[in-house]
This record gives sequence, structure tokens and C-alpha cells, in this order.
Amino acid sequence: MSVSLPNSLANSDVPRHVAIIMDGNGRWAKDRNQSRHSGHRAGVSSARQSIETAVERGVEQLTLFAFSSENWSRPKEEVSALMKLFVEALQRELGELHASDVKLRFIGELGLLDAGLRDKIFEAEQQTEANTGLRLTIALAYGGRWDIIEATKALARQVTEGLLQISDINDEIFAAELQTAGAPCPDLLIRTSGEQRISNFLLWDLAYAELWFTDVLWPEFDQSVFDEALSYYASKQRRFGHTGEQVKAVEC
Ligand code: IPE
Ligand code: IPE
Ligand code: MG
Repeated sequence: MSVSLPNSLANSDVPRHVAIIMDGNGRWAKDRNQSRHSGHRAGVSSARQSIETAVERGVEQLTLFAFSSENWSRPKEEVSALMKLFVEALQRELGELHASDVKLRFIGELGLLDAGLRDKIFEAEQQTEANTGLRLTIALAYGGRWDIIEATKALARQVTEGLLQISDINDEIFAAELQTAGAPCPDLLIRTSGEQRISNFLLWDLAYAELWFTDVLWPEFDQSVFDEALSYYASKQRRFGHTGEQVKAVEC
């Protein structure tokens, strides 16, 4: 019997899509008796470095979790300082990202953001639209449950309008309604700061991702830590429910 495995199984050792939960800015700052905000500022430069490494290592897609649906519950001052930081970072980095052929996209409940930040996001997406290098997705005001609920509503509307039969709903049709529609699922998820949880990130998309956790706090995440994660990924045999022997037979 022939075995059908996802394309990504027969891939090279480099993950096509890496997703990162950039965690630990606050603890990094606390260790230095600095404000949480200085931790977030340091985190922006780690994000820049991770983008550079992704480009250098030939990763096709990088998705960075910058602000979760639940992060709205943080102190008001921290939330507004973060929003300001996102605007500034976009303003400062857009030229360089564009010059590096990076195509930028934002996912999340963007309607909740201030108009000023939404304008910057729109500008960044428009300006880099035709770029063909790294596809960089920033998850802002994003929650995996929110994404799944919105997709469910969209399908329910199509059923109500008679455009879709309930019995036709499958993986592919569901995934097409998610914020990540059209992108391959992450092959590798990295989370910094020692926490080993998903915190409502890409709940649907991470179904078969390799998970890699490090105690390193996000502001200290650099190329060598990224490379450690990539080596871990390269050492794994992905089976997607098949047996190791089936996978080997396909790889040969
Ligand atoms: C991640 O760092 C940044 C965001 C969630 C916006 P944290 O701010 O969560 O840092 P810790 O977890 O408090 O150290
Ligand atoms: C996850 O980090 C969200 C982002 C990195 C943007 P959190 O710091 O919010 O996660 P928890 O609260 O520790 O699970
Ligand atoms: Mg945290």
C-alpha cells in the first residue's frame, strides 16, 4: 500500500515555517532592575535578529507572537507602551525589511488596535506586498481560540446562506477560513523563557509542529540559540502518525 505523507516530510533539514513565542522580556528587565518596558525594547532587537537569521538559514516563513488576546489584561500603561513600541518599531524597520525583500503580514484582531498602528500595518503590508523573500507574519492581538471561533462563524454563515453543506466541511475548508489561510503550518515552534505552554497561539496550525523550548529569555535570543533550535529540528524524524519505517521508505 502506498503511503501518503505531507510534502513537508520529505523536506530538507531546514523548517519551511518557524513560529516563535517571544517570551521573557519582563523577567529579563527585572533581573537587571529595569522597567518592563526596557525589556520589551530589548525584545524588538531580538525580533530583528531572528528575522535576519531566518533569512540567512533559508526559512521561508517566520511567524512571531508579539501580543496575545490575553495580553490586553495587562496594566493599561504596559499595553499602551507596547502599542507605541510596535508603531515605532514598524516605522524604524520597514525600510530595511523591504530592502531585504521581506513580505510582511499581520494576523489577529486588528480592529482592536489604535488607528495609528493600523495605518502603519496597512502601509507595511502594502509596501512589501510584492516581495518574494521571507514571509514574516506578526501575530498582534491574536488568539488561537478567537481565530477558530471566527472561522467557525464564517463557515456557519456560508451554511446559512446555502453556499456550503455541513457534510462538506473538512480540514482544508476549515483551514481556509483561518487567519493563516494559504500558509504552510509551522514545522517548528520555539518558545523562550522556560515556559512550556502554547498560551493560545496557533492552536489549529501547531497540530504537528516540533516543539522546542529554551530557558533563554527573549531579549537574549540570538543566532546561536536559533541555530540550536534548528539543529534540534534537523535531528527529528517527523512521522505524522505513520511508522518510522514507512517514513524511511518514502525518504529513500
Ligand atoms: C513577552 O514577554 C512579551 C509579551 C507578551 C508582549 P513578557 O512581557 O511576557 O515577559 P515575562 O513573561 O513577564 O518575563
Ligand atoms: C505569550 O506570552 C504571548 C506572547 C509572547 C505575545 P505570555 O507571557 O502572555 O504568556 P503566559 O501568560 O505566560 O502564558
Ligand atoms: Mg510572558
